Formats: sequence, C-alpha cells, structure tokens
Amino acid sequence: MAEPPESDVLSQWLELSVGEMTYGAAALARTPEGQVVFVDDALPGERVRAEIATRRRHYLQTRAVQILEAAPSRVLPPCRYVPECGGCQWQHATYDQQLEMKRQVLVETLRRAGAEAPAPELLPAPEAYRYRIRGEFHVVKPKGGVGSHELGFNKRRTYELVPVDDCLIHHQNIADALAGIRRALDQAGSGTLRSIRLTTHPTRRELLWRGLGGEAPVGLQEALAAELEGYLVHQDSLTVEYDGAAIDGREGEPLVFRVDSECFVQVNHAQAHNLYRLALGYLGDRPGGLVEGYAGFGAMSIMAATRPAVEARPTRVTMIEEAKAAAILARLHIRLHGVAKAGVLAGRLEDKLFQLEPDEVDSLIVDPPRAGCTPPVLAEVARLHPQRLVYVSCDPATLGRDLARLQRHGYRVEAQALVDMFPQTYHVETVSLLVPA
Ligand SMILES: C[S@@+](CC[C@H](N)C(=O)[O-])C[C@H]1O[C@@H](n2cnc3c(N)ncnc32)[C@H](O)[C@@H]1O
Repeated sequence: MAEPPESDVLSQWLELSVGEMTYGAAALARTPEGQVVFVDDALPGERVRAEIATRRRHYLQTRAVQILEAAPSRVLPPCRYVPECGGCQWQHATYDQQLEMKRQVLVETLRRAGAEAPAPELLPAPEAYRYRIRGEFHVVKPKGGVGSHELGFNKRRTYELVPVDDCLIHHQNIADALAGIRRALDQAGSGTLRSIRLTTHPTRRELLWRGLGGEAPVGLQEALAAELEGYLVHQDSLTVEYDGAAIDGREGEPLVFRVDSECFVQVNHAQAHNLYRLALGYLGDRPGGLVEGYAGFGAMSIMAATRPAVEARPTRVTMIEEAKAAAILARLHIRLHGVAKAGVLAGRLEDKLFQLEPDEVDSLIVDPPRAGCTPPVLAEVARLHPQRLVYVSCDPATLGRDLARLQRHGYRVEAQALVDMFPQTYHVETVSLLVPA
C-alpha cells in the first residue's frame, strides 16, 4: 500500500505549549494560527507532541504522545490501563498537582459564569487510591460463546471496552472480587446483562451487586456467593456506617444507614465524612426548620437531626427526593434514628418546594446531580428565602451558573470548599454556603 503523503502524516501531529487545565480532563493549548486545542494526558507548562484525535469546527481534540518538556509534577501512572481506560484522566500528575488543577478549574469556571465566591478551602481525600466503595463494571461476554467473561470500562472517549483485572481507584474488596465475579458469570451466564454495579462495605468483606441493562440470570446470586469466598454477598441492600466523631464530634455508636444498589451513595466513603462535616458546619447550630433537597437516603438530614447538642437540632427536617428507592430508605432512616419531627416528600424539587412556606425553611441543603438546579427550583429557593443555603455540587459549570442566578436572587457565597471526592479524575466536588446578601 502506498505511504500517505507527508503533509497528511504531519497534520496528525502538533507540537504544543500547554496552558491551563479545563473542566473535563484536558489542558488547553493553541496552534500557531490560534486554533483552540484540547490536550489529554498533558500538564500545564509542558511542551508536548500531540496526536489529533478529532477535528471539530472550533477546536481540535488531541492526546499528548510525547512529552518534550515535562512538568515537575509529572509522575508515571501506576495503573497499567492508563491511558487506554477512560476511568482516570490525571494519574500522570502528583496528587498535589491534581488538587491545584481542580482549584484553578473551579475558580476559573466560577469567574467565567460571573459567580463571586471566596477562595475555596481545599480538603484533600484521605486516600488517593482504593477509595471507591461503589463501581460499575461492563460485562464483556465471551466471543462466540467461547472463553471467559471479562469485566471492564469504556475506553477513553469511546464506547469500546477495556477489560481489566484490577482498578486502583476501587476499594480492595471490589478489586479482590473481580476474578470470582468473572468465574460466577462463566458458570451462571450473563444473559442480557450489560454491566454490574458493585458496592462494598468500607471495612468488612461484604459486597452488594446489581445487574444493569438486562435481566440477571437465575443462579447468579448463588454462583457469586460460592465463588466469592470470605465475602457476604448481598442482592438487596448493605449497611454502611459513618463515624460520628469525625463528622460532628459525637460519641458512641457509628451512624448506620442502609443503602441499596439503586440509591445514591457517596462513593468515597472516607472523604464523605469530610463532606458531611463541612456541610453540617456550614449549616451551623440553627434551631429552625431544615429542608434537604436531592436528599438521597437522607444522610445529612438525619445527621443534623441527631446532633449531639439537642438545642442545635433543627425543629423539623424535610427531605425531598425523586428516586423511590432512596425516599423509602430515607423514611426507614427517620425511624431507625428515632427522629421525631421529620418527613420525606417523595418527588421532584420542582413539584414539592412550592408546598413549603418560608417559615418552615430556615436552612436549605441542595445536592443536585451534575445538571444542577433548574430555574424553577432556584425561583422557589428565592421565594422560601432560607437564611442558610448549603449547595453541594459535583459540577463546577452548573454550580457557576446556579451561583450567578442565586446572586441575582439576593444571595452571596460566604464560604466555599473543594472536597476532593474523586482523586485521579477531573471531577470537582464543592460545598458552598450562601446567605442573604
Ligand atoms: C448527588 S445525589 C445526593 C444524595 C445525598 N445528598 C447524599 O449525600 O447521599 C442527588 C440525588 O438527587 C436526586 N434527584 C435528582 N433530581 C432530582 C429532582 N429534580 N428532585 C428531587 N430529587 C432529585 C437523585 O435521585 C439523587 O438521590
């Protein structure tokens, strides 16, 4: 076959000076002509040779394939599936550098959105690896029905699969179970399953599983229980505990919650303590009514309602949660924790907030998914006018948009923290405290 003309070959590569990180994994660079280039696997300040992956009208998506001048914070990724696997994007940076990039991304994203906020406090994760107590693994079926099942993740920026034997950001309990799960799938078959969601107990060998994208084959639970020696294998739910001393200095038994595979759980269990400590601290000791929107199974409301100082507890807590499974668990937790004045409004904030009156909402927590809060929700927040509004966000772009809107509704950001829940990835989690301006 004829060699491609030299100009075509050369046009697949660029030599670039890399600028700041952008939200979404890549760093920013420009061609000599000024075209915007996003560069994966590069660090600010580096000079790299980059391969063009995609050409778009207004930018190029590239990947650094040769580091011509390395940043001092560059390290060798410890995982053998980097860079093929799309799970981690920043293993090539020291953890300090990752935090600094997240800080910069947050500050810059808020600035561009017109949201004013004080410099964020940084809370590094206690563990930079092995922190995920939940993960979703794709099931790779044997080709032509011959051979063994594999488990894996999507390749970076594609839907192709990368089979893995281990994943360094997942808890050791999950990593150690993968081989047994593959054997169980070989025995029981995988039917129409596309993936499997695994949740482990943070300190005990317990594993909760759920098949996604299809029916779990009959017999898979038995096969998993037989293959995962030393594990307690659950199909329905799992108990997780939080150490109250780390959250608000309370003494005694840990705070116990039941989670199932459908309801949201903070995947970084150790760092969730910091997140909850901070959110409760931002709420302060206010004895008015507390409403928690996007409440999940109700962790923060239950923690606030059982604070050690009785006089600091809210007069009433109201949780609003759309997912049925989580709302049921929130109700269970009200009973389990003996909270007298509490209720769950099962449904969307868009449909439930208007049922509340301003005198019922002294404080409000919102912890929305990545899409953030819709304008009707923010309008209702303005009507209810809480004295403290704690906004937990997992997306700086929608956070910036919503903070700017809340500013227009008469709020200001009094404090903000970046709580790193997802080391090795570009994901940014923040907690912001807003008060009436
Ligand atoms: C990021 S999780 C927060 C969970 C909880 N704060 C915790 O720490 O466990 C977001 C939750 O919001 C729920 N949700 C998403 N959109 C919603 C809406 N419009 N109204 C009410 N709940 C919603 C989801 O089901 C999910 O449980």
